[in-house]
Amino acid sequence: MLKIKSISAKQTINFGKLFSKALGGGDVIILEGALGGGKTTFTKGVLAGLGYKKRVLSPSFTLLRQYDLKNLSIHHLDLYRLESTDMFDLAIDDFLYSKDIITFVEWGNKISSELDKYIRIEFIFSGENIRNMKFSIKGYPKSKLITLEKIYKKYV
Ligand SMILES: Nc1ncnc2c1ncn2[C@@H]1O[C@H](COP(=O)(O)OP(=O)(O)OP(=O)(O)O)[C@@H](O)[C@H]1O
Ligand SMILES: [Mg+2]
Repeated sequence: MLKIKSISAKQTINFGKLFSKALGGGDVIILEGALGGGKTTFTKGVLAGLGYKKRVLSPSFTLLRQYDLKNLSIHHLDLYRLESTDMFDLAIDDFLYSKDIITFVEWGNKISSELDKYIRIEFIFSGENIRNMKFSIKGYPKSKLITLEKIYKKYV
């Protein structure tokens, strides 16, 4: 487990940009934590880091937003309003782990028990502008976490 502390929304954007360097097609990222915890802000940073220049909106009301880059698509989901936790109803298992797709799932704790492999980030409120972020992995070799530790070593 890796824990870092953000002191502003801008820093969380920057953390997302840094995180993007550790990502590749097929990665699934489960984002957990309170409303306003910074899940969408972090994902915006990731998209900026991957070179996406257009506007990124929260998927809160649409369930899914898709952003297409050259050889890669980012699928950004928000399951907050989802009643059923059945992945087959959701049909996300059709694209999850595809080699040219990276998937971010806000409120992903609703489905994570059904997944064998993901990076999990938990956002914890620690003051008006302070958020702690805890990174953990399931189904990845430990080297994935070591890569993240290196990326964030200034902030641990
Ligand atoms: N350190 C910080 N990191 C991230 N956001 C911060 C921070 N400090 C303040 N904020 C503010 O907190 C809010 C975070 O909202 P954001 O939409 O990213 O949260 P969320 O986890 O996606 O919430 P939701 O569950 O409602 O989708 C923004 O208004 C942002 O400006
Ligand atoms: Mg959000």
